[in-house]
Amino acid sequence: MTSFWQDVERHVVRYGARFTPRIIERAEGSYVFDEDGNAILDFTSGQMSAVLGHGHPDVVATVTRGIRDLDHLYSGMLSRPVVDISRRLAESLPDPLRKVMLLSTGAESNEAALKLAKLYTGRYEIVSFDRSWHGMTAAASAATYSAGRKGYGPPVPGNLTLPTPNAYRSPFRHTDGTHDWRTELDAGFALVDAQSTGSLAACLVEPILSSGGIIELPLGYLAALKQKCEERGMLLILDEAQTGLGRTGDLYAFERDDVVPDILTLSKTLGAGLPVAAVVTTPEIEQVCHDRRFLFFTTHVSDPLAAMVAGTVLDVIQREDLVRRAQSLGQLMTARLLELQDRHAVIGDVRGRGLLQGIELVTDRETKQPAEGLGHAVTHACLRRGLHLNIVQLPGMGGIFRMAPPLTIDEHDLELGLKILDEAILECTR
Ligand SMILES: Cc1ncc(COP(=O)(O)O)c(C=O)c1O
Repeated sequence: MTSFWQDVERHVVRYGARFTPRIIERAEGSYVFDEDGNAILDFTSGQMSAVLGHGHPDVVATVTRGIRDLDHLYSGMLSRPVVDISRRLAESLPDPLRKVMLLSTGAESNEAALKLAKLYTGRYEIVSFDRSWHGMTAAASAATYSAGRKGYGPPVPGNLTLPTPNAYRSPFRHTDGTHDWRTELDAGFALVDAQSTGSLAACLVEPILSSGGIIELPLGYLAALKQKCEERGMLLILDEAQTGLGRTGDLYAFERDDVVPDILTLSKTLGAGLPVAAVVTTPEIEQVCHDRRFLFFTTHVSDPLAAMVAGTVLDVIQREDLVRRAQSLGQLMTARLLELQDRHAVIGDVRGRGLLQGIELVTDRETKQPAEGLGHAVTHACLRRGLHLNIVQLPGMGGIFRMAPPLTIDEHDLELGLKILDEAILECTR
């Protein structure tokens, strides 16, 4: 018999970051457990998705019932769970976001959103941030700049970037040293306009860039971006794969900014770890696209099981008051992270909101020199102590820890995770 890791080496395709060197056997609540019975606190909610923790009893009951009674249908058939979740999502959103399509993954939802935008505007150019991540399918990856662009030939034509408004590192500064995001946005659009062939269709952005290093859009930025879009007849598409459904302390992150997108995509958190995604748009966009024969006929579009799961996720978020919980636990997390920053000179920046926060590691706070390698050492030290964290390492930035524990995490476990992080940083910088 071969060992697990020998089989991995022989038979498993390596598709990205290195595999975590543990064999994970089961997951429950805020923890995953390896084969040796070690409990590992899950500060990434799986792949930033399991907002209700693992194996939430309501989700277990829904999936069990769904598989038995109404699992999957011909894609042209509709069922009550699909129409119910469409109505409920619309009711949870501001006007005119009223029309919903239920899908499976984040990339797929962005693919559909981009197709809607192209068909509606009759144009093809898509603008996104230079640290974006929108998924691995064709149009989504063409609009993704934080990783994976090289080696695959030409991306979909017509993709253009805007500089990510990174308050910590942006070279755009007021004379007092604060971030001048407005000039940065103007300069970005001057470049977009210069490169455009006159076919600008949409801007696709995350309200907090997660894979791009937990970069929060400055207050006022989204409204200014929306105005730039309107001036050019472009649509604004918000990708709330990670920020949607309460994680940032609002049900949707864009609520903070008082801006309504033309198209909203939801995924990860909508299924709380199961593959559920949605695209929400306006009746007008939907009508025009329908008249132009919009086609997005996938195997799992309008799957009743996915709809039931999303309905349960919404139920639990409401019943357990998880939006408010994300807000209050987020405040606790910010306070603790700022304390850590006081104690550890390598923490250059603390950012994010609610239960989506990050710290950036530097070797020198003055020069903001990225701390190469330290992030990986701290990640390993955390894992040894029973905490799973995710580090993003991007060119020109220090290692950035992304922290997004389940919204159901109890205060004790949140404090425990942050204590482990404290000890791990101490160990690696002594
Ligand atoms: C903001 C954002 N959009 C889209 C995606 C892609 O989602 P999926 O991997 O489910 O296709 C991700 C995945 O990390 C993401 O973070």
